[in-house]
Amino acid sequence: MIVRFSELHFPQDPATLYPHNPAGEWHLEIGFGDGRFWAAHHTLEPQANYLGVEISGVSLLKAERRARTSAPQAVLTKADALSLLRAVPPEGSLSRIYINFPDPWPKAGHLEHRLMRRVFFETAAGRLRAGGEIWITTDHEEYFEFALEEARATGRYAITETEPPQAALQTKYALKWRDLGLGARHARLRLELPGTVLHPDFRSLSQIPEDHMPHSVVQLPPAFEISSFEKRVARSASATVVLLEAFRSASRPAWTFLAHVEEEGLTQEVLINATEREQDVLVRLDRFGGPIVTPGVKRAVAAVTDYLEERGSRVLMRAY
Ligand SMILES: C[S@@+](CC[C@H](N)C(=O)[O-])C[C@H]1O[C@@H](n2cnc3c(N)ncnc32)[C@H](O)[C@@H]1O
Repeated sequence: MIVRFSELHFPQDPATLYPHNPAGEWHLEIGFGDGRFWAAHHTLEPQANYLGVEISGVSLLKAERRARTSAPQAVLTKADALSLLRAVPPEGSLSRIYINFPDPWPKAGHLEHRLMRRVFFETAAGRLRAGGEIWITTDHEEYFEFALEEARATGRYAITETEPPQAALQTKYALKWRDLGLGARHARLRLELPGTVLHPDFRSLSQIPEDHMPHSVVQLPPAFEISSFEKRVARSASATVVLLEAFRSASRPAWTFLAHVEEEGLTQEVLINATEREQDVLVRLDRFGGPIVTPGVKRAVAAVTDYLEERGSRVLMRAY
């Protein structure tokens, strides 16, 4: 089940998120990709409630599809992991955090993009219960050592290197690296000294990285106007889009289209702006309401572009 980040509570009582199993342990997976890990691993943790956080909307939909048949109680959300960890689980509420094949950001100037820095381990120490564990699996030797060093620097974890769980060796990235001949390292970090102190390096919620907004650029015909608008339906293999309405801005040369987007597992209402610039018109998904950028939402931007093209516009560029 997908739960939008905005529907969660800050902090979130797990008992209300999992009413069927209110006393269960709470496990968080960060960067679940297409969801293969929990689909396989959950049978070994039948008492656990699962929350998965992923930054990619496309992965979110793929994992939801998989979870529907293989782990139907799983809760999936789209957010930046550190922001979620900071805001959502109450102090001492998590029993486990899984991180499988995190993005390594290997270039020297990019280390601040890494998830597993000291700030992450400090934050996790305030959210895990005493004895709770972080399970890290990665093919990237240097990032693995870096992460353990960052965790050690907190003085809060007992670290054991061991064999990865079977399910972590079956994820999309595990198989990809295995085919390239790379092995996986695995460590379990057991929380010995819980913490409540917030690290000053926290990124605030307003700094959650935003998706690249799908857009296009068009040139409208002379004296373009929309005097009436009829509801239109556009379809792709995985989505149905209904353009419901078009509104003219009272303050600037711009139109806003309201679209209803239905995909398996997720329904969204999104706004798409067509804003006149000096030479052309920018057609772009609006950030209002925090839309999850999925193939269906991209289809909605395409549908507005197609509508403008049918009305005599020249499409200069499409970037969905
Ligand atoms: C290399 S992939 C691994 C995916 C999956 N765990 C696997 O093993 O196949 C890393 C994943 O982490 C996600 N990710 C990267 N940064 C993230 C963040 N800050 N918060 C949540 N997910 C993130 C990416 O979108 C991507 O799906």
